[in-house]
Amino acid sequence: MSAIEADNLVRTFGGLRAVDGLSFTVEDGEVFGFLGPNGAGKTTTIGMLTGQLRPTSGHARVAGCDVANDRRRLRPRIGVVFECQNLYERLSGRENLDFAAALFGVAPKRVDEVLDQVRLRDRAADSVRHYSNGMKQRLLIARALLHCPQVLFLDEPTRGLDPIAAREIRRVVADLAGQGVTVFLTTHYMEEADCLCRRVAFIDHGRIVAVDTPSRLKVAYGQRSLRATLRDGSVLDLPLDDPDNARRLAELAAMGHLQTLHSAEATLEDVFVRLTGKGLLA
Ligand SMILES: Nc1ncnc2c1ncn2[C@@H]1O[C@H](COP(=O)(O)OP(=O)(O)OP(=O)(O)O)[C@@H](O)[C@H]1O
Ligand SMILES: [Mg+2]
Repeated sequence: MSAIEADNLVRTFGGLRAVDGLSFTVEDGEVFGFLGPNGAGKTTTIGMLTGQLRPTSGHARVAGCDVANDRRRLRPRIGVVFECQNLYERLSGRENLDFAAALFGVAPKRVDEVLDQVRLRDRAADSVRHYSNGMKQRLLIARALLHCPQVLFLDEPTRGLDPIAAREIRRVVADLAGQGVTVFLTTHYMEEADCLCRRVAFIDHGRIVAVDTPSRLKVAYGQRSLRATLRDGSVLDLPLDDPDNARRLAELAAMGHLQTLHSAEATLEDVFVRLTGKGLLA
């Protein structure tokens, strides 16, 4: 059974089709990236997949439960971290989790486990108001993991974080993947998707424009090239698929103009630009 099966999901707001006929599956244990620019429909999709927003039409099953008609069974099977969720700032990290564990009927010993999972055990006694944004985000993930969900939804978990804090979050997600948790992750950082996700879907204007593994997308839509830096400091990108470039490169080498030569693989950003005519970051 797939962890997520979406079949022609649509959500409109007035005349706007925020999500416009999405169909995809996410396998059990997969980290699946949902990539798209601002307003593409990422948060709306998570809203529907987590039973918080009713689809206008279409269906989805998450962890075997229909997201519109089986929400009571769905809730204990999923964890979700949206942007701008609240923590009790005056309480410590551990107290926040103790409180949530009591509320959800989770065994207290689970608190230590999730603190370890998000690498916050050593700061658990500190008041949350002294946490950095990255630590707060990790505490939110810990809270979402308390009841051992089968599928974890993370909505832009690294948005606005500095590179080191973002790397910590990525490490946590990679660990979770290693433990077999299915993760549905939205982002508009392509490197993040590239390093974390087994497969990614590119979404634009509420539609999926491509879905595959990052490497297959790059091969299918990206351009392989060689980047030559010449002795005069100029840089040339020479696509490998252009036969003229082999001759050109040989000439540059023969004339002693070459300083360095590197292979340049297409990035997911290149692929997205190719597919949609625009970049992921506005
Ligand atoms: N409750 C709502 N009422 C009206 N319009 C909405 C509502 N929620 C979302 N939208 C619109 O739906 C579209 C998709 O929004 P959504 O928040 O899903 O995008 P997103 O991909 O998550 O963007 P971001 O990267 O900025 O978070 C946007 O045009 C947004 O303005
Ligand atoms: Mg969003």
